[in-house]
Amino acid sequence: MRKADVLLGLQWGDEGKGKIVDVLTPKYDIIARFQGGPNAGHTLEFNGIKHVLHTIPSGIFHGNTVNVIGNGVVIDPAILKKEIDKLLPMGVDVQQRLLVSKRAHLILPTHTLLDKASEASKGSGKIGSTQKGIGPTYMDKTGRNGLRVGDISTPKFREKYDALVAKHKQLLKFMDFDADAVLGELEGPWFEGIETLRKLTHIDSEQYINQALAQGKTILAEGAQGSMLDIDFGTYPFVTSSNTVCAGACTGLGVAPNRIGNVIGIFKAYCTRVGSGPFPTELLDDAGEQMRQVGREFGSTTGRPRRCGWLDIPALRFAVMVNGVTELMMMKADVLSPFDTIKICTHYKVDGKLTEFLPYDLCDAVIEPVYTELKGWRSDLTGLNDAENMPVALQQYIGFIEKQCGVPVSIVSVGPDRTQTLLRSAVWA
Ligand code: GDP
Ligand code: IMO
Ligand code: MG
Repeated sequence: MRKADVLLGLQWGDEGKGKIVDVLTPKYDIIARFQGGPNAGHTLEFNGIKHVLHTIPSGIFHGNTVNVIGNGVVIDPAILKKEIDKLLPMGVDVQQRLLVSKRAHLILPTHTLLDKASEASKGSGKIGSTQKGIGPTYMDKTGRNGLRVGDISTPKFREKYDALVAKHKQLLKFMDFDADAVLGELEGPWFEGIETLRKLTHIDSEQYINQALAQGKTILAEGAQGSMLDIDFGTYPFVTSSNTVCAGACTGLGVAPNRIGNVIGIFKAYCTRVGSGPFPTELLDDAGEQMRQVGREFGSTTGRPRRCGWLDIPALRFAVMVNGVTELMMMKADVLSPFDTIKICTHYKVDGKLTEFLPYDLCDAVIEPVYTELKGWRSDLTGLNDAENMPVALQQYIGFIEKQCGVPVSIVSVGPDRTQTLLRSAVWA
């Protein structure tokens, strides 16, 4: 029996997962999302086209690969319909290429309103959520109140929907949020989305995935968000509401832990974060602004400017540990080209004491990053087509990270396009 590979973001999301999944898809029979929902924005670029996916796995542009939305994902039918409607004119046969787990939960319009009301009630302490209803939907899942894709085909679907909405309205009233003023205009597109979803193929994805493995098929599980946004291991409470780490692929697809193969960890050559919460290496100066402009660091889902900072090794090493990362892929190396000197945080000083570990409390403790300085490469990488030709300073930067994390870097990305991808391992050739 084969094992499923897992690809994950190791930082605070937006590492470039969409680009790499698209690049690796020809090597896989199946690409499967296992958690998160339309809070994700996964960008792909090829043939001059830029495309952002929110719910649909990033293998959708390849005709020979099946894409699965697993049970751990939460789906907003209105957003899914919009995504599908954008793909159809591009000749992407979504009906043929996409399978949806019956067990995936539905984001209701009132979940989105609850997300908004919750954020508003937190004032300056807000999470900075994408306001896509993610938290409230996972709350209803664990609270055992949720609606699932499989419910759409049952006679009691509308009844169950109305009962949950009635409950949500009470909560919204308690939160001083006038749901009736906006709910009408949200429900139209939502029920249209339900009709689109109804026409897709609904499967028992755990059976499908395990049978595929038994038949020797290759599977890549595509993570959303990043390890530092994981509900258990991220910078709580400034996290998302799912397990973004590798274990999430087991529960979000029904793949047993001993059926997990390679764990591919994706990181940017620096760090970004969108939304609130601790970010030890954040740069609030010109260097941070330069990263934002050169790297076009604005959210794919919300358009918000992303906070930028130097690479954080204690956080990266922590993510490598909790995920069992077997290989790393470094993204956006080209963005650091303008810098004479590149800093890497190797330790933190927490309340004056030096540590190389990620502390429990990143929110209230006084954390000072301790940096090592490396020489910048100061040359344009975007036209490179062979890892052998990478500047020496870049090779040294990568070597330093490999040593710190104890895992090899197998791919280096030097631009947003599919082709701007340098292979350092024969496995991906
Ligand atoms: P994801 O959520 O992990 O899929 O990442 P996003 O798509 O939200 O954000 C990554 C952004 O960086 C997108 O705009 C990509 O097109 C872009 N990108 C990916 N890899 C590279 C790279 O190597 N260099 C540059 N300059 N941009 C990249
Ligand atoms: P991809 O898959 C970056 C952040 C939000 C917020 C926190 C909680 O594109 O990497 P939520 O809407 O999940 O309740 O928001 O998590 N966040 C992301 N940041 N990339 C993402 O996804 C994100 N999904 C959620 O900004 O801080
Ligand atoms: Mg993104």
